[in-house]
Amino acid sequence: MIETYKTDQIGFCFGVKRAIAKALKELEKNGGKIHSLGPLVHNPQVVASLEEKGVIPIEDVRNIKNGVICYRSHGIEKKEEEEIRRKELTVIDAVCPFVKKVRTRALQLKRQGYTVVIVGDEKHPEVRSVLSYLDNDGIVMQHPHPIEATKIGVVCQTTQDLETLKRIVGGLMDRAEEIRVYNTICGSTFLRKQQAVDLAGRVEVMLVVGGRSSSNTTKLYHMVKKVQPRSYHIETEQDVKPEWFTGIKKVGITGGTSTPDSAIENVERLVKNL
Ligand code: F3S
Repeated sequence: MIETYKTDQIGFCFGVKRAIAKALKELEKNGGKIHSLGPLVHNPQVVASLEEKGVIPIEDVRNIKNGVICYRSHGIEKKEEEEIRRKELTVIDAVCPFVKKVRTRALQLKRQGYTVVIVGDEKHPEVRSVLSYLDNDGIVMQHPHPIEATKIGVVCQTTQDLETLKRIVGGLMDRAEEIRVYNTICGSTFLRKQQAVDLAGRVEVMLVVGGRSSSNTTKLYHMVKKVQPRSYHIETEQDVKPEWFTGIKKVGITGGTSTPDSAIENVERLVKNL
């Protein structure tokens, strides 16, 4: 009989819950359909279920003329916001307040004359959003390297890990005269990672449930994999392979911030019945 253990921090985070609730409330009020700029969350099953209800993702705001547009929790780019303002669109702003804080801090640093460094993934929508509001006047960094600036201001993608932030700030100190650092890592992500790593050390197999396009789920997976080599990143219970559990008694389960409770429950039920 396999015993399963879950992290306390599991299921949608505050920002994702809030974005989905806002979109569904608008649908309830107006019926019909609304658009989200990019997928509302990085989980294909959740996006498909929202689409069935009437939340249709679009990649380019130029593709619609009117109606309702919902900003996703990761934020949007400045030029998209400007384009939206020029149209007759009703805006549902579901950008997570913690993501907005990164932007506010970055702009504040720029105004104060700092060279702004954003610790994060340059392809991630949140980082692209922050950089766009800086009019691309910032440096995105995922690995430490020196820059030619004496006064440096640092912000961090909300889902980055603290170790990366510390390494990069350490590297910048080689040349800078002054560094101002805002630790903008989201508390919920931080706790989730800590609990997942702790659990991975106490079980024989670790399952990380979440979308393959979800940056925080992928990071979570790589972190637990270092502690528990028998870790697997799965999107749904259909990805589970019975041979992973031969002779195994203790299985840990965690999930990214865009993974619904139902996906976790389905995985847990399946594993218990193996
Ligand atoms: Fe917001 Fe943190 Fe979730 S920044 S979207 S609550 S991971």
